[in-house]
Amino acid sequence: MTEINNETRKTVQDLRSVYVPTPSYRKLEADFHKLLEQRRADMADGIVNKAEGIVLVGQSGSGKTTAIRELIRKNKSLLQTDSTQDICEFFSLQVPSPATMKFVGAATLRALGYPYSGDKQGPAIWDQVKVQLKLRQTCFLHLDEAQDLARYQTDKERQSVVNTLKSVMENSLWPTGLILSGMPDLKKIVNQDPQLARRLYPVEIGRLHAVRDVEPVLDIVQKYVARAKVKAQSCVRKESFAKRLMHAADYEFGLMTEITVQALSKALFNEGFEAELQLRHFADVFFDRSAAIDALNPFVAEDFTRIDPRQIFEFDGEDA
Ligand SMILES: Nc1ncnc2c1ncn2[C@@H]1O[C@H](COP(=O)(O)OP(=O)(O)O)[C@@H](O)[C@H]1O
Ligand SMILES: [Mg+2]
Repeated sequence: MTEINNETRKTVQDLRSVYVPTPSYRKLEADFHKLLEQRRADMADGIVNKAEGIVLVGQSGSGKTTAIRELIRKNKSLLQTDSTQDICEFFSLQVPSPATMKFVGAATLRALGYPYSGDKQGPAIWDQVKVQLKLRQTCFLHLDEAQDLARYQTDKERQSVVNTLKSVMENSLWPTGLILSGMPDLKKIVNQDPQLARRLYPVEIGRLHAVRDVEPVLDIVQKYVARAKVKAQSCVRKESFAKRLMHAADYEFGLMTEITVQALSKALFNEGFEAELQLRHFADVFFDRSAAIDALNPFVAEDFTRIDPRQIFEFDGEDA
């Protein structure tokens, strides 16, 4: 391995920081702007009693968490997002497990920076949450992994979670718009209650299509190659390569970009700027991630479509 110099490191960091805009991201941002404008207008008129929100669904690795992070990063000038300040208009947290009303309420209070003593019951905790949301002037509350709100719950518990979420969006004290992101099961929770469904704009990060997305995927890989300022072998411009990459990523957009960045990082770390991106780099990355033998490596195996890339994958400790 050649010495890893600063320039290589910086390039890899830069590749990791790239956000590739997608149609679902554009819808997310457009919906968010609509909600924000409505909110500002209502506040100017002094009529704030109902808020609306967004529900963002996609499989694990599709890019939900990253999309919300990008949304906040890009819209910093439009809203106050610094949680160390008194006013913080956007808070984000991950739904805890088990997702009972009490646990979710306590986690929300902690995210809001409020010292939570632990002796209160669910409804009292949520009253406290609403007081804090008003004090902090929070317009949006983001709950990530929100599909867990329905997991291991009795029907009664599930209904009380849904009612609580609604009461956060509909209350005369200070309504806060919810941004729920999670796996496709989240749709069921939202659809279980028509009133809740009506208040949420739906955004879905769909899976890649093995035929339709060949060109876009090749294009994205080439853009990453150009940004890394390295060369690429002709095999990574081929349709068959795009199909292997999509399959290796289980047709999830985020995993596709993640594998591409890792393959380029491997090329850069091993060979520096003289590197030429090759199929082998992708195959090695898949091996690193899965320890799969060649026969189970979508970049190597002849009949790669029969491989289940999820079975051997592990993504950031998330359930895959
Ligand atoms: N639009 C994008 N552009 C570049 N990389 C992305 C994009 N969306 C997701 N990723 C990458 O994909 C991976 C998975 O994304 P993540 O947001 O964690 O997915 P999810 O929350 O849906 O499980 C991360 O490494 C992330 O950096
Ligand atoms: Mg996530």
